[in-house]
Amino acid sequence: MNLFDVYPLYPVEPVRGCGCYVYDAEGQEYLDLYGGHAVISIGHAHPQYVEAISKQVATLGFYSNSVENSLQRTFAERLGKACGYEDYSLFLCNSGAEANENAIKLASFQSGKEKVLAFSRAFHGRTSGAVAATDNPKIVSPFNRTKNVEFVTLNDLEAVEAKLAEGGFCAVLIEGIQGVAGIQCPTDAFLRGLRALTTRYGVTLILDEIQSGYGRTGKFFAHQWAGIRPDMITVAKGIANGFPMGGVLIGPQFEAWYGMLGTTFGGNHLACAAGLAVLDVIENEKLIENANEVGEYLIAELRKMPRLKEVRGRGLMIGIEIEGSASELRRRLLFEKHIFTGGAGATTVRLLPALGVGRKEADRFLAAFAELINE
Ligand SMILES: Cc1ncc(COP(=O)(O)O)c(C=O)c1O
Repeated sequence: MNLFDVYPLYPVEPVRGCGCYVYDAEGQEYLDLYGGHAVISIGHAHPQYVEAISKQVATLGFYSNSVENSLQRTFAERLGKACGYEDYSLFLCNSGAEANENAIKLASFQSGKEKVLAFSRAFHGRTSGAVAATDNPKIVSPFNRTKNVEFVTLNDLEAVEAKLAEGGFCAVLIEGIQGVAGIQCPTDAFLRGLRALTTRYGVTLILDEIQSGYGRTGKFFAHQWAGIRPDMITVAKGIANGFPMGGVLIGPQFEAWYGMLGTTFGGNHLACAAGLAVLDVIENEKLIENANEVGEYLIAELRKMPRLKEVRGRGLMIGIEIEGSASELRRRLLFEKHIFTGGAGATTVRLLPALGVGRKEADRFLAAFAELINE
């Protein structure tokens, strides 16, 4: 059987990882500033993480959501404390798309309304509802296409108000920072305005922090820079450092009933062990502070480079707009300098490294990058 050929692949295979480095079978080292698409939060093969999942799988790897699982309760308590949402409740699932799918469903159940307002160039995942709220017609099949999702331009508060005034919306769905769009930031003023408008119109505000959350921007969630509190927050990617896990943080105004939401694998023992280890390491190693510090340094140094069109982002979620082809530059960074980076569109290089990346790695990247763009 062949693999269904949907991914364009680099001819390189990391077989081992350590911190923010990966290695191929020949032992070639690569600096990983992509983090497997913002998933590696605490670094590859972190010993505390390896020990936690190894112990858990040797004890009890899985049981269904029909019995008590105290690991889930411990994880919810720890996460609530770590991110400042102790009064919210947590629904655990397996991926980012699934988290958004459940958040939309919950907003719709609660309000009895069906429409969702999303933003141009948004990415929210590939399941039915999440992909309908993703502004990329290429990945929306005729089955997924729906009049229930409408799009307005990011940072255009007037357009949001005009739509909400029409009525029928259960939710506004927005990324903390748009990732796939090439690191496009909602302004703090826009997020505050959005919070005020959604409150005024009785519409649920869902913050998709799947890529921008979990410490990446130098606060636990990107929206916390704007000082707002959304009604729901969706998380995945860095939550379990590569173990598939997602979640919805749900405000106290939402009431659950048995059978309302559900999943076979969500919140399983292994996922919770992985998630708890991630929270421990983020706290013990002060990774959020590090993301802020190293991120600020990278952004400031990149902004000094004369040939770049724009440097966007916060903390370790950085988009570098270059003059030529981003894919060609990324290819050269990978094969000539042995540095993994991410892309977004034709001209943006994306940096999404593990949160513990250091100045040494930042300097190595800056030197390699400057050399290639100044050729
Ligand atoms: C902002 C955002 N939301 C949702 C998703 C979907 O997550 P998953 O691929 O885990 O379904 C992604 C993935 O890239 C994302 O960046």
